[in-house]
Amino acid sequence: MNADTTSDMSSDRRCLLVIFGASGDLTKRKLIPSLYDLCRTRQLPRHIGIVGVSRTAMTDEEFRDRMKPWCAKRPGFTDDSWPHFAQRLHYHTGDATNFDEFDQLKTRLTELADEHETGENVLFYLSVAPQLYEPIIVNIGAAGMVTEGKRWCSLQRHIAPFQRIIVEKPFGHDLDSAAHLNRVLGRVFDDESIYRIDHYLGKETVQNLLVFRFANAIWEPLWNRQYVEHVQITAAETVGVEGRGGYYETSGALRDMIQSHLLQLMAVLAMEPPNSFRAADLRAEQRKVLEAVRPITPEQVPNVAVRGQYGPGNLNDEPVPGYREEHGVDPQSQTDTYAAVKVHIDNWRWQGVRFLLRTGKRMRRKLTQIVITFKPTPHSLFRDSDVDHSTGEASIRPNRLVINVQPDEGISLRFEGKVPGQGMHVRSAVMDFDWAEHFGGEQPEAYATLLLDAIHGDQSLFKDRFEIEAAWRIAMPILDYWRDHPQNDLPNYAAGSWGPDAANALLDKWRNPEGEVSRSRLIQK
Ligand code: BG6
Repeated sequence: MNADTTSDMSSDRRCLLVIFGASGDLTKRKLIPSLYDLCRTRQLPRHIGIVGVSRTAMTDEEFRDRMKPWCAKRPGFTDDSWPHFAQRLHYHTGDATNFDEFDQLKTRLTELADEHETGENVLFYLSVAPQLYEPIIVNIGAAGMVTEGKRWCSLQRHIAPFQRIIVEKPFGHDLDSAAHLNRVLGRVFDDESIYRIDHYLGKETVQNLLVFRFANAIWEPLWNRQYVEHVQITAAETVGVEGRGGYYETSGALRDMIQSHLLQLMAVLAMEPPNSFRAADLRAEQRKVLEAVRPITPEQVPNVAVRGQYGPGNLNDEPVPGYREEHGVDPQSQTDTYAAVKVHIDNWRWQGVRFLLRTGKRMRRKLTQIVITFKPTPHSLFRDSDVDHSTGEASIRPNRLVINVQPDEGISLRFEGKVPGQGMHVRSAVMDFDWAEHFGGEQPEAYATLLLDAIHGDQSLFKDRFEIEAAWRIAMPILDYWRDHPQNDLPNYAAGSWGPDAANALLDKWRNPEGEVSRSRLIQK
């Protein structure tokens, strides 16, 4: 994120990018198209070779042909720009979990390093099934492929050769496996060479949240328990499991989205101002937020967490199957495709503020949004005024700041205003900032930002091991409770709806617990 990406041809940024899991979905949908974008916009270092590694037998040409249609979907794609990018793409057929095949891989990488003049710099990318992470990391180490990544030196960071590794999510299946993976990685790479990816951090709107908070002085005085009533972070998706039923059965919405992306959004939103934008400072503050989350006891789980699973339904007037009918899914599956959790951050700034995190697949609309609801005025001068809200609410509504992460990226602030004319009629109005209208242009793909950062050696948008483990610590009691207490009303929401009724009722209660309801009555007409 800090890197100057305009004119880099220096030797420290040349590298061989080795993608394990190159025949998988992520490679074709995100990684290669993002690299193509970077190449087309001349942000990729001149000396770079991209090597896909997978068991599926393919030649370089076949790999290029397979990747081209995915790149062609990117805005700005031109046939003319393709050969320049394609010549950097290579493919190596092999089983990276088998150490006996590593000699061949090493030889191939050495040849390609010569061809692309990338020296010793290598960036590994683990985009394989999570159970393959460990054997591949162990093999990379045993094959002696990490000579520099284990003796990183801050003083020489911008001139020393490097071997780095990007690790995709899921980072572990639970706290123990995540801690184990951290140890396995630590035996082969220094922490400064490990890039634990969460693509939400690469989204422009998430980076903008940092700028919004820390480049504007007016929010900071309001950003605390004195002014904020509650915060709601929602990631609703219209997609189902998209052929990933096998993976999703081992995961579920809480693991797949809340443990990673939503807690990460919360950490960015709630952290203290860091001393600087350096990775260590940013990550230390985010980690402190996660570590301050109040532990949830098993008895509390039914009151603070809700799970759901979609049944058949309609989306955009098309019938869609239920989760249990998806390929690779157990017909009796207990997996959550919807999860909502209420958390408290036990620190000075946020004591008493409710943070509601929720996510679901096959919801009515795609929407990732942060809503900050501020406290009502302490005394209402307008309680005898006519209040004219489309919602039919008779009370003056609290201010609300809405940050649209995606789609319709933007920020809006709701406030109350006087309706012109005689008498005192109050109505809500909204100040709107529309990202596309204001800044125009295409937003870079989150993976493009993160890949470039990793090539440049900038870890600020990647998680450290402590953040990962802290997030698992928050999720574990809920996961354990759900595992031990099957829920017999699943599926409990129709595809194309806004989630389970019970969840929505509970969310309403969380938003307006008794105390606050009675206080808001004070300002009713
Ligand atoms: C991934 C999850 O990490 O994020 C997917 O594994 C999910 O299940 C995806 O669909 C959502 O990402 P985005 O960028 O579309 O919000």
